[in-house]
Amino acid sequence: MSVPAYELQAVSRTFGVGDAARRALDAVSLTIEAGEVTAITGPSGSGKSTLLAILGALDAGYVGRVSLQGVDLASLDERARARLRAQKIGFVFQSFHLLAHLSVRDNVSVPALFARSAGDPASRAEEVLARVGLPGRSRDRPDALSGGQRQRVAIARALFASPEILLCDEPTGNLDRASSAEIVALLVREARERGRAVVVVTHDPEVSSRADREVSLRDGALVEAA
Ligand SMILES: Nc1ncnc2c1ncn2[C@@H]1O[C@H](COP(=O)(O)OP(=O)(O)O)[C@@H](O)[C@H]1O
Ligand SMILES: [Mg+2]
Repeated sequence: MSVPAYELQAVSRTFGVGDAARRALDAVSLTIEAGEVTAITGPSGSGKSTLLAILGALDAGYVGRVSLQGVDLASLDERARARLRAQKIGFVFQSFHLLAHLSVRDNVSVPALFARSAGDPASRAEEVLARVGLPGRSRDRPDALSGGQRQRVAIARALFASPEILLCDEPTGNLDRASSAEIVALLVREARERGRAVVVVTHDPEVSSRADREVSLRDGALVEAA
């Protein structure tokens, strides 16, 4: 067995202090495997984005233990966490977060600014654009594309540095059913064919039904699968 992408032991996160303190995550223990799509579901305010920020090594203010491929995230300083994010993790968001004044290709190669990449960024961008089914669109601006196409550009950017982990927060939240289905198919393929750990926060049954595993949160705590 290979080492899991993530192991969480009794992870809690509290925001605020004193009377205003609110526990956003409550003793979450969980293993996330490479090569699988894990859906994180739950009502609004249940802690999904908080959990994703911790998995993304963006939020170090938790208690408990989080290991990424066997490395305890608490053992890393901010610099080492930033390096780990750039090398190992791709992020995909509901609202795409593309830069309107840059071409599709330049959006996709933005990660080259943060991590050394082998080869020419422009040709790597073409490679990942072809992988997400958008060849020939590299000179367009994002506003020339449909929502589903924009999300594919965002996924291409997330794949640019060949991350072993893809973290997605409501990736189909702004898309119609047909585009959502295409995005899910892409994410599933990245898990199956490339062995990436794909973690998707979602309200979309189209997404959770195609995931290998569903992790449900309520008031910050895991709800055991029925
Ligand atoms: N930076 C923050 N400061 C204060 N409270 C926060 C912060 N982030 C999240 N919370 C609170 O933590 C709880 C969980 O939020 P969140 O993880 O965003 O839920 P979800 O993504 O499931 O909607 C909510 O009550 C939210 O208000
Ligand atoms: Mg959220």
